[in-house]
Amino acid sequence: MHILHVASEAYPYSRTGGLADVLGALPPELVRQGMAVSVLSPWYADLLGTPREIWRGGDLRLGELYQEGVRHLFLETPDFRRPGIYHPDDVRRFANWGRLALPVLTSAGVRFDVLHGHDWAAGLVAAHGSLHQLPSVFTIHNLQYQGRWNMAEGFPWTGLPDWLNTPLGAEFYGDINLMKAGLRFASHVTTVSPTYAREITTPEFGEGLDGLLRERLARGQLSGVINGLDQERWNPRTDPHVLPYGDMAGKQASISAVRQEFQLDDAPILSCVSRLAVQKGLDILLAALPRIVEKWNVVLLGSGDAQLEAAFSAWAQRSARVRHVTGMNESLSHRLYAGAHAFAMPSRFEPCGLSQMIALRYGTLPIARATGGLADTVPEDVGFVFGEPTPAAFLEALNRAERELADPDRWNARASRGLSMDFSWAGPAKRYIEIYQQVRGEANGPLSEAGLEVV
Ligand code: ADP
Ligand code: GLC
Repeated sequence: MHILHVASEAYPYSRTGGLADVLGALPPELVRQGMAVSVLSPWYADLLGTPREIWRGGDLRLGELYQEGVRHLFLETPDFRRPGIYHPDDVRRFANWGRLALPVLTSAGVRFDVLHGHDWAAGLVAAHGSLHQLPSVFTIHNLQYQGRWNMAEGFPWTGLPDWLNTPLGAEFYGDINLMKAGLRFASHVTTVSPTYAREITTPEFGEGLDGLLRERLARGQLSGVINGLDQERWNPRTDPHVLPYGDMAGKQASISAVRQEFQLDDAPILSCVSRLAVQKGLDILLAALPRIVEKWNVVLLGSGDAQLEAAFSAWAQRSARVRHVTGMNESLSHRLYAGAHAFAMPSRFEPCGLSQMIALRYGTLPIARATGGLADTVPEDVGFVFGEPTPAAFLEALNRAERELADPDRWNARASRGLSMDFSWAGPAKRYIEIYQQVRGEANGPLSEAGLEVV
């Protein structure tokens, strides 16, 4: 069976976060389990890699690169000839890109059996696939980003037939909504953890699409499949970015190295590697800082929301116990996963989250909110979880961590359990293959106006 993944980023070629990591790790595991796999992502101007051009038509071109048995395809449209990944005109860019993807692949001779789209930027490809009776799976990595634009301007970009310009199609409160197009028309919808799969069927987490998701759940067409981790890339025993270690004694060298690098005192280290977004609850961390720095050093790596960036940088200027580094920095992220005692993840919502799994593998104990994938991956006898998205609840969990830290045997027992945790992709990939087989076996009639049902 040949699977075509479609996404806006794919490690190691383009990356802003966990989505890219999934596209870098799930496909090779599918290959190991016998699938043929291609990954289509945009041919960004500053792609990390030089694709070999395999097709050209007008101002479009398609390139390829092979990585771990996976064929990576890169589609360039004129909108992508500029630096950076995301831009304010993304709905237009990805609508055009998504409209062109299947025709280009067809004319380049790329064949596949199941289309697997990821997040809103691939929603339109899934919708066009349904119009052509292609079996498809659509995975939600984050329901908050939906790719919305006013209908009058945006609908023509999509190339969808006019009869899909309704609430039963891709319309959403007067806007075109590319996430909805994927959710509505893919043969099967998945998201990246069982808990988030339940959460998004409620108004609190559903971002206005919970009704549609409840409908798909009722039909047995919504599943939660937990992400795995690339355990070679994130392995403290072999990690070239740190002094490799396999036990808590060995980890001390990484902690000392971070202390030295950031000129920290002897207080324990709480690290955080994150996009600075409301989702991640870093305003909660910020509000709790006055109390945290009484007992901890805090080292944060991350950029995003300008106000949060300014607030953390201001803290770093006035407190010797706070350090803040901006920008994407892969090597430093490894040092901070390894060289800290605990890792802060106070997310308001978290579809899966990879950071907490990485921290656990490095024997760094997450202080994590019990939501989405955090609830599914942080065991209570290893990390410290809390319920309410408030500074008080975070501090209560941190308090528990402090009490455990006072007893090195207990702390090391927890951390050692983390060090030996297994987040392999093998199980999740097997589950995806079952879903591919299922959608391939279903007789999908062509999507037609008459076939639109009330949801
Ligand atoms: P999300 O995809 O929502 O940002 P995840 O936890 O799924 O969250 O994945 C985030 C990934 O991005 C992790 O691998 C994390 O280490 C990485 N990351 C986030 N910010 C940075 C940064 N500033 N520098 C390097 N890596 C980062
Ligand atoms: C999104 C989510 C994150 C998830 C990642 C990969 O970025 O915010 O929770 O781990 O996608 O699925």
